[in-house]
Amino acid sequence: MNIVEIIEKKRDKKELSDDEIRFFINSVTDGSIPDYQISALLMAVFINGMSDGEISVLTDAMANSGDKIDLSYIDGIKVDKHSSGGVGDKTTLVVAPMAAACGLPVAKMSGRGLGFSGGTIDKLESIPGFRTSLTEDEFVTFIKRDGIAIMGQTKNVAPADKKLYALRDVTGTVESIPLIAASIMSKKLACGSNSIVLDVKCGSGAFMKTFESAVLLADKMERIGRANGRNVYALITDMDQPLGYAVGNGLEVREAIETLKGRGTEDFTELCFIAASFMLVAGERARDLTEARRMLEKSITDGSALEKFRRLTENQGGNPEIIENYSLLPQAHTVIDATSPVKAVVSAVNGEMIGSAALTVKAGRLTKEDKIDYSTGFELFAKTGDSVEEGQVIARICAPDEKTAETAREQVISAYSFDDTAKKKKILLGYIDKEGLHID
Ligand code: URA
Repeated sequence: MNIVEIIEKKRDKKELSDDEIRFFINSVTDGSIPDYQISALLMAVFINGMSDGEISVLTDAMANSGDKIDLSYIDGIKVDKHSSGGVGDKTTLVVAPMAAACGLPVAKMSGRGLGFSGGTIDKLESIPGFRTSLTEDEFVTFIKRDGIAIMGQTKNVAPADKKLYALRDVTGTVESIPLIAASIMSKKLACGSNSIVLDVKCGSGAFMKTFESAVLLADKMERIGRANGRNVYALITDMDQPLGYAVGNGLEVREAIETLKGRGTEDFTELCFIAASFMLVAGERARDLTEARRMLEKSITDGSALEKFRRLTENQGGNPEIIENYSLLPQAHTVIDATSPVKAVVSAVNGEMIGSAALTVKAGRLTKEDKIDYSTGFELFAKTGDSVEEGQVIARICAPDEKTAETAREQVISAYSFDDTAKKKKILLGYIDKEGLHID
């Protein structure tokens, strides 16, 4: 088979055969085709798309390009949760202990952040001592004993995706529905769960900027999962502004703990309840979303979800005292306030611009090699729909030095838009399951 002919075929809007797709993925995995030819095919797919059949074969080939995770040591239905990524998305830090407190074992393998999208592993590593590299024995022991463990990916899961994702990141081919669907679902299929709750983000802080494109992506992923015997709930949630109030690793850990204490912001708390409710239903720990919600609310009021977070932290070597004493989390060198230039209603907080500002203060990484500063980021006190006075503090900037703090302050202020009519938006815009699209 010839890679040039495959590239030409996709360039000319033709459908690739199963064998051609599998040949491509095998060659990506064994390194036998150069990056420039891989990139050319990625761009052809980005421009001309793929049929459902092509996406399904691509996903399967990528899922089978490396190791598979065996979760058979956990009894019952195994549920995985995945977010398509966004600014201030610390949902896993809250949802995992909540679900575990309601009897659903959470064996989570998470990733690091790249670009504006943060990663759960980076956030956890901002807790002093927290180890995200566990042996398989430790991982299994913690899940069997406490129902929760979160670690970085050690096995060689979907190596073809690693290679493709790194090239997409530098060739302008990330925001492609077939490529995102195959990338996310190949990893989920290789990770051994029976049910998957996907959180497809939509808006300025997400890869999918419009509701229509988020629905298309959610639909493709649900179909891929179903074709492979998985029960998938694909939630479409608003990411037009950063989630919650904190952006940046240590700050997001603090917000996650506050949420587990029942003191989270409305939008973020609501998203956590929704995602965890779907997990409990998918894992058959609750009959329906109403019962799931009741169980989860109890896990917050009786402190059992916070207790799971404490066990998770202790088990993995982290200092559990951070739960009561936030000053034990990394503290930024320079902290300054940003104030509103007008008296008005906040009409938008642009997620992508806040994400770029987070890169300025080193709370995120631009390349895989970049070192993150766990202490930096922002607290956003005013969100869409809030009324503010001129001169009111709308955000706090935590930065490594004065100069960076000033630059980030300008960026954060310019991410805000104001008018007098803006309203708060719902967090759950709809969801897709085997019966199709549901809109509230
Ligand atoms: N997350 C992934 O894992 N892959 C993508 O392509 C985009 C988001």
